[in-house]
Amino acid sequence: MEKAPLIVAPSVLSADFSRIGEEVETVNSSGAAWVHLDVMDGMFVPNITFGPKFIKDLRPCSPLVFDTHLMIDQPERYIELFAQSGSDYLTVHAEASIHLHRTLQLIRSCGCKAGVSIVPSTPISMIEPVLDLVDQVLVMTVNPGFGGQQLIPSTLRKISELAQIRHDEGYEYLISVDGGINLRTVKEVASCGTDAVVCGNAFFMAEDRPAFVKQMILSAQEARNT
Ligand code: DX5
Ligand code: ZN
Repeated sequence: MEKAPLIVAPSVLSADFSRIGEEVETVNSSGAAWVHLDVMDGMFVPNITFGPKFIKDLRPCSPLVFDTHLMIDQPERYIELFAQSGSDYLTVHAEASIHLHRTLQLIRSCGCKAGVSIVPSTPISMIEPVLDLVDQVLVMTVNPGFGGQQLIPSTLRKISELAQIRHDEGYEYLISVDGGINLRTVKEVASCGTDAVVCGNAFFMAEDRPAFVKQMILSAQEARNT
């Protein structure tokens, strides 16, 4: 069966927050399928961004899938609040939640799709016991905290590993990558089996955002076929 086209998820972290509504409208009309929302608490990562109110206020600005990436310690404390913000996916870090299994169940019980993410130094074996409970696995290809970093090549084999496990076990999660994705690196991650790519800087710095998204999807298609 032909694989679905690459899902492009521009991260508003790289947008101009003083014009956030307009910025999100350019995502809506770009051909991207998702909007990626990076929540940072200054504890799990060395940066602070925004919380549930910001996401709730943005919800009417876009019909796209809201893909919320919680880079916060003990995310279980805030799942209900972020679910009420209108997020479609809530992704938590395996490193941040001791009772990860329970946290993922909580996300689903709040009506959201559940995602799990791992930082570059965390192996897939750490999340293997919960892979039957997730709708998305988000592989961090940089150390989380900031946009505009370079992809760390040693993270790539985790994508192939996840694709293999999904095939062997009959799981249905999407495999996403986050950090340092651009027109060059999209080919590498697509050939490893990525379904969705987050892109911050590459999208928001592109002169022509719709052309950028189109090219990303085409490049992924080519890489998958070679
Ligand atoms: C990094 C965030 C990313 C970030 C990606 O900690 O999780 O979503 O916005 O930005 P780029 O694409 O610029 O690496
Ligand atoms: Zn992110």
